[in-house]
Amino acid sequence: MNEKIEALLEEINQYQAASDEALEEYRMRFISRKSVVGDLFGEMKDVAPEQRKAMGVKLNELKNTAQEKFKQLIAQLEQYKATKGTQAVPDLTLPPIPDTLGAMHPLTQVRNRIVSIFERMGFNVAEGPEIEDDWHNFTALNFPLNHPAREMQDTFFIEKDPDIVLRTHTSSVQVRLMETQKPPIRAIMPGRVYRNEAISARAHCVFHQVEGLYIDRNVSFADLKQTLLHFARELYGKETKIRLRPSFFPFTEPSAELDIYWGTETEADRRVTKGTGWLEIGGCGMVDPFVLESCGIDSQEFTGFAFGMGIERMAMIKYQIKDLRLFTENDIRFLKQFTPFN
Ligand code: PHE
Repeated sequence: MNEKIEALLEEINQYQAASDEALEEYRMRFISRKSVVGDLFGEMKDVAPEQRKAMGVKLNELKNTAQEKFKQLIAQLEQYKATKGTQAVPDLTLPPIPDTLGAMHPLTQVRNRIVSIFERMGFNVAEGPEIEDDWHNFTALNFPLNHPAREMQDTFFIEKDPDIVLRTHTSSVQVRLMETQKPPIRAIMPGRVYRNEAISARAHCVFHQVEGLYIDRNVSFADLKQTLLHFARELYGKETKIRLRPSFFPFTEPSAELDIYWGTETEADRRVTKGTGWLEIGGCGMVDPFVLESCGIDSQEFTGFAFGMGIERMAMIKYQIKDLRLFTENDIRFLKQFTPFN
């Protein structure tokens, strides 16, 4: 009898009722007249007289425990129903809900990848403010006042006279580096930039660039080209072809536009490359001696190259994304597709 009581106590303690049926089952088994506890009271007459008293005490305890537990179960079930099962009595037999791991934003992944490629070539990473003065964003970069080149970059002004702007390119960070460091300087500067443009599939008013700057003795245009070629092949594969197209920037001379070969096989290829097979990803050139001098670097002794590339552009090429707006809409179905870059 003692063992039976112990076993029932154990059973009562373990009992969980997540439904009315389970509660009723409990009531039938432990509380009702025909319950197992009731049966045990019936068996009392078979207990030896000298043990009867102690057994009676135990049995009463069992009965009280069963009733206490019943009250608890009722309360728990009510709470469970009130919270619609959100704080459910745990059902340990259910398979676990898998933890879904998040991933880094595709732009972050591409930026990290770019940074690691250049780090292996000996470039440091530098940063600068997104709110810039006119000197760092324009004047030191050889944009004369009222020069039409300023119009090329539709600027968001924060203050006028003196002008404070949201930087229109990461080239402002070049100026900050050249002002504060002595050559050799070898750095890349990833960051957010702003232009007052209507948002479309191909343009946004907020986007990201990575700037590169290398200043030392005898830095040549060949060094620039080889650095960019190596970078493009690391990012897009060994067979990647690049092209440098003559262009103009006030702060580089000579200047070029950097294109990546995309192909003309499909109709879509021809559309995104406007039939040429090439996609532009940024600008580059030899740092204009005037810029070196404005930043206190002797242009007789040092030369350098600089480049600035669009991170969204590079990500769109890498992943064949057709619309720039997808990057900022935060649609989980879009973001989910980007497993870490390798
Ligand atoms: N700053 C230029 C742009 O945003 C790109 C560039 C950077 C060009 C460095 C040449 C050298 O268009």
